[in-house]
Amino acid sequence: MSLHVHASPEAVLHSLAQYFVTQAQAAIADHGRFSVALSGGNSPRKLYELLAATPYREQVAWDKVYFFFGDERNVPATDPESNYRMAREALLNPLAIADAQVFPVDTALPPAEAAEAYARTIQNFFAPDKAVFDLVLLGLGDNSHTASLFPHTPVLHETSVGAREVFVEEKQTFRITLTAPLLNQAQAVAFLVYGADKAAAVQQVIQGARNVEEFPAQLIAPAGELHWFLDMAAAAALLPA
Ligand code: 6PG
Repeated sequence: MSLHVHASPEAVLHSLAQYFVTQAQAAIADHGRFSVALSGGNSPRKLYELLAATPYREQVAWDKVYFFFGDERNVPATDPESNYRMAREALLNPLAIADAQVFPVDTALPPAEAAEAYARTIQNFFAPDKAVFDLVLLGLGDNSHTASLFPHTPVLHETSVGAREVFVEEKQTFRITLTAPLLNQAQAVAFLVYGADKAAAVQQVIQGARNVEEFPAQLIAPAGELHWFLDMAAAAALLPA
């Protein structure tokens, strides 16, 4: 696991943007494409806007990048809460990414069917190989959830490599999320976490006693690299190694 701690959110965003570019260039050179599962919520919007701007936009062969979603809210693609809509606005439209390179969750289906369909979409994309994302971007909630792996939900014990629907009690709504086994098949996983409100969750997930029911992000243990991109505020509760 690598910790990348920077003084400000802006510095963290540039650090992760550079890492994204490096990973994309390496994957495209190695196997001709770069598959990335995007995170949602607020934190990554600025990352996506950075990637869609100079100097980063010029450094990636975007026509060889394939975009998936680590999780999605159970809302229409046009809804302000949609992770797909946010990615479209901040990254995909500014880069004029072709629809054929983007794989949104079909939230027009009921949640369980949407999850099953999404799992098939992912398996079909990678077939006949294992579904191994070149990069998975993740955020962290202040309750230590990541993607839509929320505390005390059945999906935390899901052993399938796929996607599942999750009913989130505190939000009284469904989400669709990739399962931990699928996320963990990735070549690389990068958490982007900034802000003092996340400091306790960061410390619990990285240094706390193992308790995945309470701290689901502890489930993330990828076959490949695990990186945490943090600002000083989010890293403040981490004890010196
Ligand atoms: C989502 C995300 C979720 C997010 C965390 C942190 O759909 O909301 O996938 O896991 O990363 O909730 O969200 P913020 O960046 O908005 O704090």
